[in-house]
Amino acid sequence: MKECVFIDGVRTPNGRAHAEKGWFRNRRPDELLGEVYKAIFERNPKVAPEALDAVFVGCANPSGMQNDIGRLAWLAHGYPDSVASNTITNQCPSGMAATIHAARAVMTGEADLMLAAGVEDMEKVPMGANMDFPPYLFNRYNPLDLPMGNTAEKVAEQYKIAREDMENMAIWSHKKAAAARDAGKFKGEIVPVKGLDEAGNEMVVDRDQWVRDTLDPEKMKTMVSPFKPEGVVTAATSSPLTQGACALLMASREKADELGLSYTYKYSLGVFGGCDPTIMGIGPVVAVKKIFDKTGLKPEDLAAIELNEAFASQALACIRELKLDNENAPFDRVNQWGGAIALGHPLGESGARIIITLLNILKTDHPDGKYGLASLCGGFGNTAAVLVEKVA
Ligand SMILES: CC(C)(COP(=O)(O)OP(=O)(O)OC[C@H]1O[C@@H](n2cnc3c(N)ncnc32)[C@H](O)[C@@H]1OP(=O)(O)O)[C@@H](O)C(=O)NCCC(=O)NCCS
Repeated sequence: MKECVFIDGVRTPNGRAHAEKGWFRNRRPDELLGEVYKAIFERNPKVAPEALDAVFVGCANPSGMQNDIGRLAWLAHGYPDSVASNTITNQCPSGMAATIHAARAVMTGEADLMLAAGVEDMEKVPMGANMDFPPYLFNRYNPLDLPMGNTAEKVAEQYKIAREDMENMAIWSHKKAAAARDAGKFKGEIVPVKGLDEAGNEMVVDRDQWVRDTLDPEKMKTMVSPFKPEGVVTAATSSPLTQGACALLMASREKADELGLSYTYKYSLGVFGGCDPTIMGIGPVVAVKKIFDKTGLKPEDLAAIELNEAFASQALACIRELKLDNENAPFDRVNQWGGAIALGHPLGESGARIIITLLNILKTDHPDGKYGLASLCGGFGNTAAVLVEKVA
């Protein structure tokens, strides 16, 4: 097997998916992908677009404006039609699936130079839009148990996650994201992108829109669940509706050396997993256990863990089941620069985005760290995890 190294990773800031207030309400998801492609090639002039073997783009809802966005965004931005471009869908792990498939192509020797990307615009293509479920699916599952928020409520109940702990986790997610932003830690990954401010004036967006600088814990305690009467999951403890795109440049170590590209981390192992779709948030327990079983690694061997916060209930349940960190926030290893509750969660983008952030956390804050892990849950019980390892 060849080694697959990470050369570079960039992302747009995450914008609020809102038709009147979203900073990217005037930008299409294909345009956001175009912005990250442009940044990748500007930052890596030794890599010509035509030298890529393929571009794999994760997208959770590849319909409407996002229909085959992998191919169409690539062509629309003038990139060579000779480069294969696939849209890869796996609900929230779509961007991670794109990264895993790209890495596997490199490791088997089928490809040398790959771009793995992720994109989602939850305003232009809302979650669940254009879905037509197989009717007999509902012989097996109650349709009311499948929407994401309902699964988060069920996880809270089943895993006995207290509302107070979820709110505490959300507060820390915002605090850590704001601290990382203010310390300039996202500068290495965020590409400034033109958008609109809330008044409609053009602005250059260089930060994530959802991070809250002031939090009102008393208001959070009184918020009502939008998902279930008497429920405990609220907008404050859910990842918000988001728009964003990201891309990761990956290569075989030989190709990177031949082109004179530098790298610090490589893809070590990636797994997919499945779980009961009515508690889909528990997915990372399955995926991360596979990584631990295959490698013998333990949480304390990991310098940093990115665990996507689809909802505080499921993230807390996973952290506790896997003993990844402290029982409650603040966490030491997990989501050191904040998580999706604060940064946002553009569904199909997040799986690749958390790998980009993981690599930056390792390089910036843990230069001696050997391993980092990223994992996320996904709709209908899809899940994936990726282990990265410092290159020897
Ligand atoms: C939870 C959800 C339904 C809320 O949607 P929404 O009502 O449009 O959300 P908003 O962001 O407008 O928030 C609603 C209210 O909560 C408030 N709020 C949100 N977070 C808050 C916080 N931390 N503190 C105080 N108030 C907060 C907002 O300010 C807003 O109040 P306002 O109307 O008085 O301004 C939506 O974000 C959602 O569906 N999230 C989950 C997405 C998902 O399933 N992803 C896939 C996971 S696998």
